Amino acid sequence: MKLATLQALHASARHNLAHTSRRSLATEAHTKRRLASDAYTDAQQSTNAAVSTTPVFKLPERQRRTLESALRVDQAGELAANAIYQGQMAVLGRDPATGPLIQDMWDQEKKHLAVMNKLQLQHHVRPTLLWEVARLGGLGLGAVTALMGREAAMACTEAVETVIGEHYDDQLRDMESLPGDHPSVPLLKNVIAEFRDDELEHLDIAVENDSQRAPAHALLSTVVGAGCKVAIELCKRF
Ligand SMILES: [Fe+2]
Ligand SMILES: [Fe+2]
Repeated sequence: MKLATLQALHASARHNLAHTSRRSLATEAHTKRRLASDAYTDAQQSTNAAVSTTPVFKLPERQRRTLESALRVDQAGELAANAIYQGQMAVLGRDPATGPLIQDMWDQEKKHLAVMNKLQLQHHVRPTLLWEVARLGGLGLGAVTALMGREAAMACTEAVETVIGEHYDDQLRDMESLPGDHPSVPLLKNVIAEFRDDELEHLDIAVENDSQRAPAHALLSTVVGAGCKVAIELCKRF
């Protein structure tokens, strides 16, 4: 997806959020709004065909690969995101202004990862062989940027979430090739769209909390963004 389109999407999300703070939005989203991902955390829905069956064995090779590589890289990405916030919390967790902000984003990432783990099991997708590399890389990135300061930690979040938001959006386009007549497929698309919106919200939070005041912001963004793109391609393949 083109950056300009993502920025338009982002601007639209920003407009929709204009009358409410990000914190209250996150709270509202998780207490009032019915989320697609709730299907995976609500025990009463565990026997629903949309969360308990898969079309993967009946799909043509190309579609099967699309589904498998998507769930492999997404689970790795959510694992790394959890590790980034864990690393940031280890350094900045006691900062009264920043700690709760990072914790809120981390809590959303915990749900993202739990849902991705269930999606992998549902669709019989093996995790990436590089999961430990993703976890340690995320942990190091989170801790090192946090040690550089609050603004650098937010710049890390801004760069990562820009790439991940774009990645999820590209993936939604690729998923148009999957058959819509299996109940798991529309749900999967809705979950991916929900997570994309969460990542864009994290991006907003980072910008609003001075990410662009970080020392060497442009260099940091370039390095972190490029690293994320390489990691995505590796985890798709391995
Ligand atoms: Fe996430
Ligand atoms: Fe995120």
